[in-house]
Amino acid sequence: MTDLLKTPASWPQPILGRAGAKDPTDLDAAVKAGAFEGLRIAVRLAPPGVIAEIRAAGLRGRGGAGFLTADKWHLAATTPADRRYVVANGYGADPATRTDATLIERDPYAVIEGVAIAAWAIGADTAIIAVRATETEAIRRLEAALGAAEDAGFIGGDVLDTGHELNVEVRPVQGAYMLGEETVLLKALEGRRGQPEQRPPHPAERGLFGRPTVVQNVQTLALAAWIMHEGAAKFRTIGTPDAPGTILVHVRGTGGAGVAEVPLGTTIRTILGLVGATTRTGPPPKALLVGGPSGGILPADLLDTPYTFDDLRTAGAHIGSGSIVATAANADVLELAELLTRFCSTEACGKTIPCRIGTRRLEEIAVRINAGTPRPTDADLIGDLSADIVASGLCDHERLATLPMTSVMRYFRPELDAKLQPAAEQAAR
Ligand SMILES: Cc1cc2nc3c(=O)[nH]c(=O)nc-3n(C[C@H](O)[C@H](O)[C@H](O)COP(=O)(O)O)c2cc1C
Ligand code: SF4
Repeated sequence: MTDLLKTPASWPQPILGRAGAKDPTDLDAAVKAGAFEGLRIAVRLAPPGVIAEIRAAGLRGRGGAGFLTADKWHLAATTPADRRYVVANGYGADPATRTDATLIERDPYAVIEGVAIAAWAIGADTAIIAVRATETEAIRRLEAALGAAEDAGFIGGDVLDTGHELNVEVRPVQGAYMLGEETVLLKALEGRRGQPEQRPPHPAERGLFGRPTVVQNVQTLALAAWIMHEGAAKFRTIGTPDAPGTILVHVRGTGGAGVAEVPLGTTIRTILGLVGATTRTGPPPKALLVGGPSGGILPADLLDTPYTFDDLRTAGAHIGSGSIVATAANADVLELAELLTRFCSTEACGKTIPCRIGTRRLEEIAVRINAGTPRPTDADLIGDLSADIVASGLCDHERLATLPMTSVMRYFRPELDAKLQPAAEQAAR
């Protein structure tokens, strides 16, 4: 299991508040600590009341893109259909980040309660919790918790004596990076080979088996449960006005690593301080990789950037998988960018040609720059290619896959120019 980092006592913990339980599958203990109180309140409200509370909370999805959760729930609830589904995305596409698996292992009931509330809000009778197949302990605990929750009537044939039926299944899934993308995940759950689909229609309108489907990251669902219990107003006291609440971050620095629950709006400096990366004496990190394999590489001058969806996007990074890595003081950012771009080009599904070919060309440029054989036009080529890729993709991967190289262009230009020097000299001859 991944270590939980110690956070200041003043930081609220709507996601991992019960994470210290001796046995996270012990339903009685979880209920004593508040589990399923949110669901009890939700079923007393009509579904529109539940969606209104989630809207008032300003909850945004924790799977990376930060969409407003209430918009999805409203669309799914109001699209005419014979059936609706809830899919909890616990895949954790970034193989090095264990935020979602950590939540499932430490408090499976928080996810199950969120699933039950979402299903009640949109009128779904079936829900699937997708978990990476290799996360065997998370799957074991979730299955045990689902059995106990069904026996107690929180899910199953008659949820809390309302007459509402909800069958919830854990589905171990295994595949490539793109499997975390919602339209790919939905196809995999249908037993089909997946590549992203054009949107609209969004899954909330036409998703699993063509029916309205709310696809929600597991953290988003745990937060929905907390909001129903504690109220939207209290949720809004955490985080920032545009990004209320907390989020799980997998933090790594030279001094250590672990998962922490962090109020949105906390600076990257403070978050890295949880592993001593910005507080110990010694050289500060040279760069910050924020967002996982398709993350932005930011300079240490941006340590005071608030960790929110919009601030990170402005800085050229993104929340992505919830990973923040502080590099060593002597890291070679171009080698890092090469490694990440190789990952992104290998994982691009190939459906859209500019993404498939463009990310491969970006990788080749990085390879030759690092090998000391750059071409005079390489800097321009990185800029032009990245702009072409971003303009023409089918899913978010095209935009994100260019971030490692474009952030080096933006923030580490002297280092790039030094590596481009052989080409400049050759051109001058
Ligand atoms: C390449 C790629 C990988 C993704 N991987 C994940 C993932 O592992 N888990 C996740 O929740 N969302 C992932 N997403 C985002 C999902 O497509 C989707 O937006 C999310 O599951 C919706 O839930 P949310 O609104 O609660 O964030 C990924 C997106 C892309 C483009
Ligand atoms: S943008 Fe890239 S990853 Fe997304 S569908 Fe197109 S080729 Fe696949």
